Amino acid sequence: MSITDKLKGLVAAVQPQYEEGDRRAITIAISSQKGGVGKTTTAVNLGSALCYFHNKKVLVVDLDPQGHVEKSLGSLIYEGIEYTPISKVLAAKKGNILDCVIRTELENLHITPGDKNLIETETILGSRIGKEFIMNQALATARTHYDFIFFDCPPSLGNLTLNALVSSDFVLIPCEMSVLAFEGVSDLLETFQEVSEKLNPKLEVMGVLFTRFDSRNITMNELITENMKKYFDGRIFKASIAINTAINKSQLDGRPIFQFAPSSTGSINYQALATEVLQLVKKQSPTQDRRQARSA
Ligand SMILES: Nc1ncnc2c1ncn2[C@@H]1O[C@H](COP(=O)(O)OP(=O)(O)OP(=O)(O)O)[C@@H](O)[C@H]1O
Ligand SMILES: [Mg+2]
Repeated sequence: MSITDKLKGLVAAVQPQYEEGDRRAITIAISSQKGGVGKTTTAVNLGSALCYFHNKKVLVVDLDPQGHVEKSLGSLIYEGIEYTPISKVLAAKKGNILDCVIRTELENLHITPGDKNLIETETILGSRIGKEFIMNQALATARTHYDFIFFDCPPSLGNLTLNALVSSDFVLIPCEMSVLAFEGVSDLLETFQEVSEKLNPKLEVMGVLFTRFDSRNITMNELITENMKKYFDGRIFKASIAINTAINKSQLDGRPIFQFAPSSTGSINYQALATEVLQLVKKQSPTQDRRQARSA
């Protein structure tokens, strides 16, 4: 083999496995340490609404060992697709999140499937140098392939959530309209402040999203809204998600709410949220939006 051939071989070996795309993803962590407040429901339905109604290319990264994203979209997932589990990619020295991605039947909606081993990843990450930046590094190429990347975070503020916050432009906080609403929000607010001061200065609260909203509970709704305003004034979504059994049924059926019950309140609420998210993003980065419009 000539020296030129050897050099060619070396160059090929260090070339990235994936080509760069021409998009620049907006990354959003959906987080609350309180369980069952609608994080997964929001990741799946907001993500699919952006594909379905707005032609955006979306990746939903499941960081919860429970693997509910895959279950919630089960009917749209082809069987037998090969991928690398996300726990392996996060444990590798130079992992690439694109190795974990699978397509769904909904064009332009991709996900990373559930991975029970993420329970151990939480601990493994703890002993790694630069543990907060591992997802951010693994995400570099993926950022150029999508318009939006959502992280469905586990109900805790451990290393996986920290990685999601460090990799994100925004955090979206689902908040159930119950007396325990603050449980999921106050600690997250503290973590958010620390992350934005020390690790990711560009991180912003996109908004608090009221979920399982029941308009009949007037006193409770007013109380929670007033309290939330003290912390997040101007950062509460106009859209809210009403309590709606069709949402629950659609998750059991493994489809986004728009396919399962297109005219349901849940479908209408998540469409309104998608529109609001696009407006907020446009306000924040008009240059980027123009660039995206050009490349569409
Ligand atoms: N607006 C709603 N109306 C009725 N049911 C809902 C609504 N939002 C979510 N649910 C149901 O509530 C349950 C919990 O929702 P979800 O899994 O999205 O919460 P989560 O915050 O992701 O939970 P975890 O913390 O365990 O990950 C699910 O069964 C879901 O179908
Ligand atoms: Mg969940």
